[in-house]
Amino acid sequence: MGQIKRGALIVFEGVDKSGKSTHCKKLVEALENFKIKAKFMSFPDRSTLTGKLIDNYLRNKECQLDDHAIHLLFTANRWEKVDQIKSLLNDGVTLIVDRYSYSGIVYSAVKKNMDLNWCKQPEIGLPKPDMVFLLSISQEEIMVRPGFGSERYEHREMQEKVADMYLQLSRECDNWEVINTARSIEDVQDRTCEEMCREN
Ligand code: TMP
Ligand code: MG
Repeated sequence: MGQIKRGALIVFEGVDKSGKSTHCKKLVEALENFKIKAKFMSFPDRSTLTGKLIDNYLRNKECQLDDHAIHLLFTANRWEKVDQIKSLLNDGVTLIVDRYSYSGIVYSAVKKNMDLNWCKQPEIGLPKPDMVFLLSISQEEIMVRPGFGSERYEHREMQEKVADMYLQLSRECDNWEVINTARSIEDVQDRTCEEMCREN
């Protein structure tokens, strides 16, 4: 019996309302058209135990929680899924993931008194992505997108810091590709598919 080729772990990152989930879902469709087994996942998964606490923290701006505590909840939310992630990858399924450890690191590390290195530690040991697409978009554009401002981190000051730190991380890692979303959805799609085919 031939060995099943491991699936790829592909992550989309970017500020709020940058279009990550749209692009993830389109990429899953495109891969399925090429007969590649693919599945969409997103973090935070608000349906789990930790996910419900996270959802409350994000939607209820009055909710008081220490920045370290919420950071660890976001990370725990990924660790809750680690067995599922590993087993899908081993079964040859390519995972297209809307946010992962980098969201965890960036959104926490831009806060006052949070140390970047400390933020990275609880992510150690999670499966490493094969490729990260960072969606780049202007602040002006995200701020007029429907729903912007409804959750805790959706304000200009935070989003600008997050965008800067993402760019900083992208320069430190060689498997990141920055995608300018000013291009059409189809264009971005072609670009991501092109990159993925190069990887395979
Ligand atoms: P979402 O808008 O993609 O559902 O994500 C909810 C918010 O949570 C978004 O502002 C980014 C933030 N976030 C973190 O702060 N840490 C994390 O680990 C993740 C996955 C998201
Ligand atoms: Mg959001």
